[in-house]
Amino acid sequence: MSGISDNFQRPVNYLRISVTDRCNLRCTYCMPTEGVKWVRHEDILSYEEITSIVQAAASVGISKVRVSGGEPLVRIDLPKLIAMLAQVQGIDDISLTTNGVLLKKYAAELKEAGLSRVNISLDSLRRGTFKKVTRRDKLPQVMAGIEEANRVGLEPVKINVVVMKGINDHEIGDFALKSMNGWHVRFIELMPFTNGGKLQPEFMPVQEMLDRLQSLGDLEACGAPPGNGPARYYRLSGATGTVGFITPVSEHFCFQCNRLRLSADGKLLPCLLSDKEVDLRPSLRQGAGESRITDLIMEAIASKPAGHRIDAGEILQKRLMTQVGG
Ligand code: 5AD
Ligand code: SF4
Repeated sequence: MSGISDNFQRPVNYLRISVTDRCNLRCTYCMPTEGVKWVRHEDILSYEEITSIVQAAASVGISKVRVSGGEPLVRIDLPKLIAMLAQVQGIDDISLTTNGVLLKKYAAELKEAGLSRVNISLDSLRRGTFKKVTRRDKLPQVMAGIEEANRVGLEPVKINVVVMKGINDHEIGDFALKSMNGWHVRFIELMPFTNGGKLQPEFMPVQEMLDRLQSLGDLEACGAPPGNGPARYYRLSGATGTVGFITPVSEHFCFQCNRLRLSADGKLLPCLLSDKEVDLRPSLRQGAGESRITDLIMEAIASKPAGHRIDAGEILQKRLMTQVGG
């Protein structure tokens, strides 16, 4: 299948699919405590509709998909969708981003259905801090989920840590040491989604995280574990896992952006930080054929902007992170 590039010669081969905007946690940087306007159930794409879109996308060169949310595992029968996607010709990699709360229950079934890997969002190894960040007391469930994902071979399991000054920055070292036991930990800069686009006081640039880690010994630059993300990776001496850094704010990786996003209600988003969207749902529900959907996907690819400037206060205006799936 021949790949397609956007107007800036970036090959686009990766689709992130949000299957729900609901979540069983309430991370402070992601959701306000109240006043979230949920997508109506009838506006959420069915698994059949998602699969038709992925078929059309595969026909123009999408070969990797990531399922996310909200929290994807709160949607009923998620392994069924994974099995449907695994049947699509041309899709060779299916991954999942989850908060891990329900992973112990579903990991084996997901693996069986054809899921390749999981990324688990975890911002603290301490129960109290976890509760403060997520507004829920579910750390033990997440740890059990991580263990189960490793046990059933959903590998490499990657742990995403959003670093927040004064909240979990003192745990950077503890997380990095987990790479000695095989964890692939990625530290992410806090993006200002819930702050009107202004950097929060908790924001910590990656350079500062790296400085904090110096005390743990040599960090040697190394290759990435399998995946599609824009992280830079390092290895502590003797570690079986890796430590990665993702810099959405201080250093743009737009120049190598290979992705499109599909929202739970059927909109294709050419860029996380742009309000441009291409609505696929009306066409799908009016019975449009694959070629019409393919045209709309091409339209979204053609409208990918060159890049964003979060550091200059430019952010997504219409949607929360939970609606676009990270
Ligand atoms: N800044 C950085 N990362 C975020 N995520 C959600 N909101 C933000 C934010 N404001 C992360 C989650 C998860 C992924 C889907 O996106 O922690 O790892
Ligand atoms: Fe849920 Fe993820 Fe948002 Fe936390 S960051 S509230 S786990 S969707």
